[in-house]
Amino acid sequence: MSQNKDTTTEQSALKTDLMQDITSLCKRRGFIFPSSEIYGGLGSCWDYGPLGVELKRNIKELWWKSMTLRPDIEGIDAAILMAPRVWEASGHVENFTDPLVDCRNCKARFRADKAQKDPQSGKLICPECESTNVTEARNFNLMFKTFMGPVEDSAAVVFLRPETAQGIYVNFHNVATSMRKKIPFGIAQIGKAFRNEITPGNFIFRTREFEQMEMQFFVHPTEDEKWMEFWKDSRWKWHTELLGIKKENLRFHPHGPGELAHYAKSAFDIEFQFPFGWSEIEGVHNRTDFDLGRHQEFSKKNLMYVDTERNNERYLPFIIETSVGADRSLLAALVDAYHNDAANERVVLQFSPKIAPVKAAVLPLSKKPELESIADKIVQDLSQTLQVQYDESGSIGKRYRRQEEIGTPYCITVDFDSLNDQCVTIRHRDTMAQERISFDKVHNYIKDGFKNWPQK
Ligand code: GAP
Repeated sequence: MSQNKDTTTEQSALKTDLMQDITSLCKRRGFIFPSSEIYGGLGSCWDYGPLGVELKRNIKELWWKSMTLRPDIEGIDAAILMAPRVWEASGHVENFTDPLVDCRNCKARFRADKAQKDPQSGKLICPECESTNVTEARNFNLMFKTFMGPVEDSAAVVFLRPETAQGIYVNFHNVATSMRKKIPFGIAQIGKAFRNEITPGNFIFRTREFEQMEMQFFVHPTEDEKWMEFWKDSRWKWHTELLGIKKENLRFHPHGPGELAHYAKSAFDIEFQFPFGWSEIEGVHNRTDFDLGRHQEFSKKNLMYVDTERNNERYLPFIIETSVGADRSLLAALVDAYHNDAANERVVLQFSPKIAPVKAAVLPLSKKPELESIADKIVQDLSQTLQVQYDESGSIGKRYRRQEEIGTPYCITVDFDSLNDQCVTIRHRDTMAQERISFDKVHNYIKDGFKNWPQK
C-alpha cells in the first residue's frame, strides 16, 4: 500500500471512530439512546435523554426566538396529518420518490442514484456484497401512509407529513388575515416530519422521524432575490453566532441546474463538515409562487394576495424558504464542539453556553453537611434561571471530567476554606482556569461570563 493510501485509510478510520465516540458519549452521558433498546432497538430511531432533550430544546428555542421575535414573522403549529390532496398539490405523491434496487444475492436494498456502476457491464453494484445481480430500479415513495378512522380502505389513507412547510402554505391566508400581516412577512414552524428513507444512518443525521424548523417568507415577486440574499446571510449568522459553529466547518453549496427541485428558482444548502463528509444541514430555497399556485389550483380557493401598498395589485407571493433539521443542527453542534484534549486526558464538549444543556455544576469537595448546605444554597439560587447539576460523588477530578464531557461551562467548587472566606472556586471548562469569588457574586459572574463568551 502506498503512503498516501495509508494516510487516507487512517484518516477515514479516525473519522469513523469520531462518530462512534460521539454516539457512545451520547448514550453514556444521557444525550441520546437507541429507541426501544430493551427490545433490540428500532432501525434509525433514537430517543433523546435528559441532556439531549435540553440541548435540543435550547437549539429550537434559539431558532424560534431568532424568527418570531421579528415583527414580520408569526409562528404556527399545524397538525401532522393533513388532507391527502395537500400532498398531491405539493407534488409529493408524484415526485417524492427514490429509485430503489434490491440485491438478489444478499437481499440488501439500496438507492440506485447513490450506487456505483460496473464499468464493463454498466450494471449497478450492490454496496453490501459487490454483486451486480440486482433488480431494475423502481420508484419508491418516501411518505409514510396510514389510515384515518376504523376502515382501512383507500378512501381513508392519510400521510405522515414529510415536511412541515405545507402546513404553513395552507395557512397563509389564515395567518395574513387574522394577524393583519402585510407582504413581506414570514410564518415559522417547528415540528416532526417523517420520511421512509431507504438508507437512513450516520446516527441522527438521516432518520425516518425527525424535526424540522422551517420558515416561509412571502414576498412580492420582484423582491425575491433581495430576500433570498437576506435570508442566506441571516441563516449563516444563526449557525455561526448563535449556535456557535466554527465558520471553517460550514459552507454554502449552490444547487446547479441538475440539482434544483422542481419548485425552486434557486437554492443553497448550508453544509457542515461531518466526519463522513460535507453534508446538508439546511436549505434556503426560492420556491417562487409554485406552492401557493398549486394549492390554489387543487383547493380551488383564491389564494391571491391583494397588496394595498401597491395600488391593490393582486398576485401570488413568492416564497423564500429556510428549512433546517433540529436533529442535524444538534449533530453538527455535537461534532463541532467535540474536543479530544489528549494533553490533559479529557474530552470536552465546547458548546456555546447558549445551547449547553447544563450551565453550571456545584461540587462540594466533601460530603460534610456544612459544605453540602452551602452547595445547596448556591444550587437553589442558580436554578431559578439556569440548568444546574449538583454532584458530590467521586473524586473532584472525576467530577470535572464528567462535566467537561457534557459541556458544562462552569464548575463551582465548595471547599473547607469556603466556611471561612464565604468564597467558592469557579473553574472554566475550556481553559481550566480557576477563580475564587464570593458566594453572592456567583450568579452575576456566570451571567457576565455567558454574555462575554468568546466566538469560535
Ligand atoms: N421543506 C423543504 C424541505 O423539507 P429538505 O432539504 O428535504 O427540504 C430540510 O429538508 C432539512 O430537513 C434538511 O436540511 C435536514 O436538516 C432535515 N432533514 C431532511 N431529511 C431528514 C432526515 N431523513 N433525517 C434528519 N433530518 C432530515
